[in-house]
Amino acid sequence: MTDRYAVIGNPISQSKSPLIHASFAKATHQDLEYGLVEGPLDGFAAAVREFQRAGGRGMNVTAPFKLQAFELADEKSERAQLAGAANALKFEADGRILAENFDGIGLTNDIVRNLGVALAGQRVLVLGAGGAVRGLLLPFLAQTPAELVIANRDAGKAAQLAQQLAAHGKVRGGGYADIGAIRFDIVVNATSASLRAELPPVSPEVFAIGGLAYELAYGRGLTPFLRLAQNAGVKRLADGVGMLVEQAAEAFVWWRGVRPQTRALIDQMTIPLQ
Ligand code: ATR
Repeated sequence: MTDRYAVIGNPISQSKSPLIHASFAKATHQDLEYGLVEGPLDGFAAAVREFQRAGGRGMNVTAPFKLQAFELADEKSERAQLAGAANALKFEADGRILAENFDGIGLTNDIVRNLGVALAGQRVLVLGAGGAVRGLLLPFLAQTPAELVIANRDAGKAAQLAQQLAAHGKVRGGGYADIGAIRFDIVVNATSASLRAELPPVSPEVFAIGGLAYELAYGRGLTPFLRLAQNAGVKRLADGVGMLVEQAAEAFVWWRGVRPQTRALIDQMTIPLQ
């Protein structure tokens, strides 16, 4: 029997996950079907349970349900616990729901493996302190950067996150004005500003010329953040398409026990940054 999976979110029609997982399934000869579920804003848990009852084996979870997915699960990975959010669920034969968060490992794999940029020993700046940032801090710190700085409009949120992660590496957090006169090898925009074509209030002087500017949003071309980096002289610019494919690959391995190749698909899905 064909195994069923889906991504749940609201809205959901824009999701590229069905395309990615169908491509993985074909390449690895896995018999599965992967659909879209538009979760009602006031009925996330019921929609998950219904998919599970109908024989579903797992789900990806996207905005605005990642926190609820975490709450719903019976067992949560350490990554998911630190993020307080889940982006993948697995339904066990006995009915238990397992939660994972592959966003951070997906981003890390994209930076380190696909873009060939080491995080180890580097100065890393992360903009934002919301759900997206919480998911990526632990995998980043596991790469042992020289220093990880979190900057957010609401400085207290960034400081609190840094404090929570202090046992895992050298990390500090605060407002944009607290960043200091330092240039960073890797700057990641994990705010939701780009979704509204806004620019986080970051100085162009944070970018090291030979460094990498990474925009978590994808398929939006040169966002105000990437344009700022480009104008500051940064040559290496990337958006989140690689992260999207890599987090999907991690979920696929978790569900199916088979690792799909990602390179060709990332190339195929990449919209040139111009
Ligand atoms: P997500 O799950 O995408 O992280 P979120 O939890 O709502 O979404 O968090 C949004 C993040 O983007 C927050 O860090 C927010 O900053 P504040 O906490 O100070 O509000 C940040 N953000 C949103 N719009 C922004 C903008 N125009 N400039 C800078 N930061 C912005």
